[in-house]
Amino acid sequence: MEYVINRAFSSSVERTPRVLELAEGFGLGLTNKEFVIYDNLAINIDQGDVVYITGQSGSGKSVLLKDLAAEMNKSLSVMDLNQIILDPHLPVIDQVGRNTVEATGLLAKAGISDAWIYIRKPGELSDGQRYRLKLAKMIENTVADVWIADEFGAVLDRVTAKIIAFNMQKVARSLGKTLMVATTHTDLDEELGPDLTVTKRFREKVEVTGEKQ
Ligand SMILES: Nc1ncnc2c1ncn2[C@@H]1O[C@H](COP(=O)(O)OP(=O)(O)O)[C@@H](O)[C@H]1O
Ligand SMILES: [Mg+2]
Repeated sequence: MEYVINRAFSSSVERTPRVLELAEGFGLGLTNKEFVIYDNLAINIDQGDVVYITGQSGSGKSVLLKDLAAEMNKSLSVMDLNQIILDPHLPVIDQVGRNTVEATGLLAKAGISDAWIYIRKPGELSDGQRYRLKLAKMIENTVADVWIADEFGAVLDRVTAKIIAFNMQKVARSLGKTLMVATTHTDLDEELGPDLTVTKRFREKVEVTGEKQ
């Protein structure tokens, strides 16, 4: 399936006294200009593909994920990790799965296999542990066709990030889910084995690599 992405933002800014001071000090022109992030970017994504989006901060990864998600939502069911809400009153083990065995299975795939973490509540976890709990909840959703994770593994150490990247693509591929992740980290190539890699650069510059492109 081909998706065509076009995205531009206006550079219009609120002219507060401080903004005007900065404009004068740094010689910033405040005329309204459009800045283009995606100019007719055509991407082929088939069901079951693993898509790896990388690029520097501010280059347009999140914008691309959101626009792709919006397009896909028209015909597919999309599950976005950012939209997962944890119940603050329930221990980790009660947050996923229909029973304890299923819960531990899902949590292990998401990289949590410590019984002491299982009995804690979300507020008592580290950011990385909470992130992994959300991943477990994402892969629990087998109704979704597409799983999306922005800032993928950003709060994890790189060894854990790699293990989880490997596990996520394995689960996604075994269930035929499309998995799309975005992160500034470029070290997950081997673990994800992406069908498609999108490397976003500044302005509208972008590189798409993969066999089908
Ligand atoms: N709603 C918006 N209005 C104006 N500019 C935006 C908006 N959303 C994002 N941008 C700009 O688009 C660029 C890409 O943003 P984003 O996709 O969030 O980057 P990242 O690669 O870090 O995820 C940034 O320069 C950001 O400032
Ligand atoms: Mg982002």
